[in-house]
Amino acid sequence: MQIKLENTPVEQLNVDALAVICFESDENPSHLLAAQNGWLPEILTSGEFSGKLYEMAVLHRPQRVAAKRLVVVGGGKLATFSPVEARRIAGSLARSLKAKGVHSLALVLKEADAPLVSAVAEGAVLGAWEADKYKSDPKKNDKRIDSFALCLSTAATPDMAAAFERGRIIGEAQNQARDLVNEPANKLTPADLTAAARAMASSYGLECQVLDTEAMTKLGMGALLGVAQGSSNPPFLILLKYTPANPVGTDHLALVGKGVTFDTGGVSIKTAEGMERMKYDMAGAAAVLGAMRALAQLKPSIPVTGYIPTVENMINGNAQRPGDIVTALSGKTIEVLNTDAEGRLILADAITYAIRNGATHIVDAATLTGAIGIALGHHNIGAFTNNETFLAKFMTAARAAGEKTWQLPMDEEYKDYLKSAFADLPNIGGRYAGSITAAWFLREFADPTPWVHLDIAATAWLDEGKAWLSKGPSGVGVRSFVQLALAWNQA
Ligand code: BES
Ligand code: MN
Ligand code: ZN
Repeated sequence: MQIKLENTPVEQLNVDALAVICFESDENPSHLLAAQNGWLPEILTSGEFSGKLYEMAVLHRPQRVAAKRLVVVGGGKLATFSPVEARRIAGSLARSLKAKGVHSLALVLKEADAPLVSAVAEGAVLGAWEADKYKSDPKKNDKRIDSFALCLSTAATPDMAAAFERGRIIGEAQNQARDLVNEPANKLTPADLTAAARAMASSYGLECQVLDTEAMTKLGMGALLGVAQGSSNPPFLILLKYTPANPVGTDHLALVGKGVTFDTGGVSIKTAEGMERMKYDMAGAAAVLGAMRALAQLKPSIPVTGYIPTVENMINGNAQRPGDIVTALSGKTIEVLNTDAEGRLILADAITYAIRNGATHIVDAATLTGAIGIALGHHNIGAFTNNETFLAKFMTAARAAGEKTWQLPMDEEYKDYLKSAFADLPNIGGRYAGSITAAWFLREFADPTPWVHLDIAATAWLDEGKAWLSKGPSGVGVRSFVQLALAWNQA
């Protein structure tokens, strides 16, 4: 999809659909709507349209514009309109109009600032994405948006143009994350994910280093290797490095993403029901890869390294057994009480490695626990930290990026749920606070480095589509990561 900031006068735009926002009880809707012979008052009185968020009405052959259709889309309450709504409006327009055979779409905004403009670009790019790669329906390409234009009432300042471009870059990076998550496990093994990272790095000018089994064995990454040993597809630890030309300060941010390309549970096997979804157990890895791609283009002033431990949690004759004791890279011994708690094992070694490589701040993203969905439902990322100041900084970024995030507690008392009779640590706690004990396990490897853990198990995959986002992989995490790095050295 092509996207651009348009300077042609809106009346002359030769597009399939021209969309304007109308708020609830809008006193002053667009002059484009006013020119339609009473159409707007008519649909308002008939109740067909009221301005509620994402509501839409379509007028064919509108007056005084070149566009084939004029679309009025609800903006909700003007007082609460923000980039979050703008992102979703753009996404809803793309999603609903492509289904109606619209190929070229333009959105008119009366007033805009940089955050709004970049949110619109993100929303349009994200809304156009569909999880239909493996559908052979020859008609699917007829239902695509080929071009999206944003029309501002005043000429775009360089600031606005840059914000729009940033939104496009971030949206496309998030879509790449969704593409990767959407791949089934037979099409995306740890080796395939590694190849994808290498290709991305060479296209966007990042350094990419890969540790294979031999290198990881030499280093002593027993926790990661223990998970991997049950699969004939070998594991990798991928590093994606961004180095700014003129770094500001001495901080070095590490982004760590869980890359389990399939999670059967191992010997502590999962039930058949829903197991097919465990192809999305690499969504943290995909978010890191997507974020690194965007950062390579947007060039923040802080160095950022992505760490992606990638394995398959399978069950061959060499698979790890419950009760096995492994030695992590940090030197801590872990009693593997449940082979299905594998994410924390691979992350432990990746976090230790990131610290040894000079990370001063770490954020990890992982589809870590089913329990996070019990705690927060599908609407918030669960966040955990060992450093409130760093989490506050992350939360500010997440809010600006429009990714809802909610902090869970990490009181010392919860740590006592992690007790092993035979090793330093077990890999599971008891029945309670499953997401918190998982976070505490990671913290044992992160301390004292400032660290934020994001449990994205309930937000990385949408079982049902939303008006602005198709069902399937959401690409969650990418925007917050990018925003965190871009805003790092701003007060
Ligand atoms: N990948 C799963 C977590 C998960 C569950 C992700 C549902 C997405 C949807 C993780 O590896 C896992 O199996 N966690 C276990 C931990 C338990 C054994 C302590 C879980 O949540 O049941
Ligand atoms: Mn598991
Ligand atoms: Zn898992």
